[in-house]
Amino acid sequence: MNLRQNRRWIAPLSAGLLLTMLLVAGCGQDMRISKAEKIALTKDERMEWWREARFGMFIHYGLYAVPAGTYQGQRVDGIGEWIMQNAHIPVEEYEQFAGKFNPVGFNADEWVRIAKNAGMKYIVITSKHHDGFCLWDSQVTDWDVMDATPFQRDILAELARACKKQGIKLCFYHSIMDWHHPDAQRSFYPNYNDTSKSNPNFSRYAEEYLKPQLAELLANYGPLGVLWFDGEWIKDWTEPQGKALYAWLLEIQPDLIVNNRVGKGRKGMEGLNKSDDDYAGDFGTPEQQIPASGLPGVDWETCMTMNDTWGFKSYDENWKSTEDLLRKLADIASKGGNFLLNVGPTPEGLIPAASVQRLEAMGKWMAVNRESIYGTTASPIGAPAWGRCTAKDDRLYLHVFDWPTDGQLDVPLAQASVRQAYLLADKKRAPLPVAAGDENIVITVGDEAPDAVNSVVVLVLNEEVRRKNGIVE
Ligand code: GLC
Repeated sequence: MNLRQNRRWIAPLSAGLLLTMLLVAGCGQDMRISKAEKIALTKDERMEWWREARFGMFIHYGLYAVPAGTYQGQRVDGIGEWIMQNAHIPVEEYEQFAGKFNPVGFNADEWVRIAKNAGMKYIVITSKHHDGFCLWDSQVTDWDVMDATPFQRDILAELARACKKQGIKLCFYHSIMDWHHPDAQRSFYPNYNDTSKSNPNFSRYAEEYLKPQLAELLANYGPLGVLWFDGEWIKDWTEPQGKALYAWLLEIQPDLIVNNRVGKGRKGMEGLNKSDDDYAGDFGTPEQQIPASGLPGVDWETCMTMNDTWGFKSYDENWKSTEDLLRKLADIASKGGNFLLNVGPTPEGLIPAASVQRLEAMGKWMAVNRESIYGTTASPIGAPAWGRCTAKDDRLYLHVFDWPTDGQLDVPLAQASVRQAYLLADKKRAPLPVAAGDENIVITVGDEAPDAVNSVVVLVLNEEVRRKNGIVE
């Protein structure tokens, strides 16, 4: 054994020695157990609640709610939370919004209740967006809600309490890019988002600011569901840095889930990874779009706005209809993804009424049909002409958007034999007649759709059919 090989032995040996010393010191038992647990967690175990959840709320909240899309009397094009960049606002001027940030209408229990009643299982809120402003009392900066605003309430602490009480997973969106920090993109003014520029002190920002902030979030409000990164496209962020950050976070919280924007893997707005290479992160992040088909073995989540902005803009009334949103939810689930639907609260701290109305309507649908969304996987029969299909255990859920005018629903199941068919909205589960054709089955569903937007027909399958259709191995 030469000297170099020898050295490799010395490190683990001395680590072992250290462990023995700690064991002797009396705190060893717990350490050994937690170490073992850390190693034991597989990705499937970590992702379990997330795959079950399928539906979450994105919340973009910060100082940008104050200008709400207007700067110096001019409407500023683009998404509301980008106003600092889009209107080229100098930091000192942007800081003035902090003095006006006083969302006295903020009620964490109410926000969480709105999400929960919609059928959402988790909330991802902006702990820090690109403008660098923090929604909690960060110890490494005064650029936060406690130190820089008259509001002086820790928004994340209040939300964490409300989420715990109501059984909703709390997750944070945290921007890697930072337009306020001198060691990050602040010096790029007037183009904070200049991707050709580098800050020579960026690693100091990453080590002494970004990481301590993440440690604070995990320590104060954890265990967290997801850490949802963004702004990874800057020149100073690299894939190795993303991988290192990912590994470091999982050391702190072994069951944490992290999106793929922690590294450089994501392919633009499409959001899935560019290739099968080993990129950092647990799931893909399509933005404002839904993949054309299911992606076997890939975890992904579509994030989407209800109007055209993430952060509140007072005059954006381009709302998607409830019908559209509900069908998108079914479409996404039918392709094996999650739906992260955004709200941008007002400067007063209220979720806009138009968003609340839509979420209430979605909640009504979910109250009847949630079984066809939660814990489901991608459709084994593609996207039929009349709608979508989700699968779970021995069931297929047929999401019928276009109810057949003759009351006969064609289902493209080859030589199928179905044990039972019924309407999910029918509490009595009255069996629907099923006729088998050569290439398909025909279900007599009746003339009237139980739901104008999406009526769900449940098919309980025979083991044999499930096997033939590749639903079981
Ligand atoms: C974009 C934007 C950002 C928004 C995010 C949501 O990357 O930079 O403002 O928060 O999308 O996915």
